[in-house]
Amino acid sequence: MSAEEYKLAAARAAVELIENGMKVGLGTGSTAALFINLLGERVNDGLDVVCVPTSKVSEIQAANLGITLTTLDEEPFLDITVDGADELDRHLRLIKGGGGALLREKIVAMSSDRMVVIADHTKLVQQLGAFPLPVEVDKFGVRSTLEMIAALTEELGLKQELQIRETSEGTFYQTDGGNYIVDCQFDEITDPEELSDCLAMLPGVVDNGLFIGIAERAFIGGPDGVEVLEADYGEYEV
Ligand code: A5P
Repeated sequence: MSAEEYKLAAARAAVELIENGMKVGLGTGSTAALFINLLGERVNDGLDVVCVPTSKVSEIQAANLGITLTTLDEEPFLDITVDGADELDRHLRLIKGGGGALLREKIVAMSSDRMVVIADHTKLVQQLGAFPLPVEVDKFGVRSTLEMIAALTEELGLKQELQIRETSEGTFYQTDGGNYIVDCQFDEITDPEELSDCLAMLPGVVDNGLFIGIAERAFIGGPDGVEVLEADYGEYEV
C-alpha cells in the first residue's frame, strides 16, 4: 500500500467519529483533504454537520463538496477537529504548520472538545524535530524576530538553521492571516514544552507549530492497519 492509502485508512477511521448535529473543525493538508472528501460523501448521504475550516484551501474544498460551513464567531465551541500533522510522537505532541495553517489550526483545535490526528506511519517519530518547526511571526521586524529566535534557541542548546519561508516566486510566504513563517530546523527537539513556552515569550512570535496537550487521539495508517494512539489526558468515547 502507498502513503496515500495509509492516509486514507486513517481518514476513514476518523470520519466514523462524526455524528449528526456535530460541529466539526476541518484541518489542512493532504491528509485532512482526504477526510474532508469522506465527510463530503457522508453529507451527501444526509449527515447533518456544520464545519469550521482552518484555511482558505480547506474552506473552498468543503464548500465545493456541499458541506455547510460556519465560523468560530458564529460557533465558538466545536465538538471535534480532525487534522493531519507533520510529525507526532507517542505522547501526541505534534509539529504542524508545514502547510502554513498552524495558527488557525491551533485556534480551531483548541476550540474543540477533542482533536483527532490522522497521519500515515512515517509521521510517527521517537523524537520531534527532523521536520523543521514552523513559527508564525508578525511581518513587522521579521529579521529581528528571526535573530531573537536564533539567540533563544541557541541558549536552549538547540542546533539550528532558520529560514523565512518563501514562495516559488521568491517572495515571503504569507499565511491566511497575513503573517510570515520562520521554519526552524533543529534536528532534535529534546524538550518541546520548554521550546514552545520560550518561543511564546518573544513579542514577534504569533504562535509556533508545536501542539502539546491538545490532541486526544491519533489514527496512524500503516502496513499493519490503523494504529490508534490515545493521549493520557481527557476522556474519550468511541
Ligand atoms: C498544515 O499547516 C499542516 O499543519 C498540516 O496539517 C500538516 O502539514 C500535515 O499535512 P499533510 O497531511 O499534507 O502531510
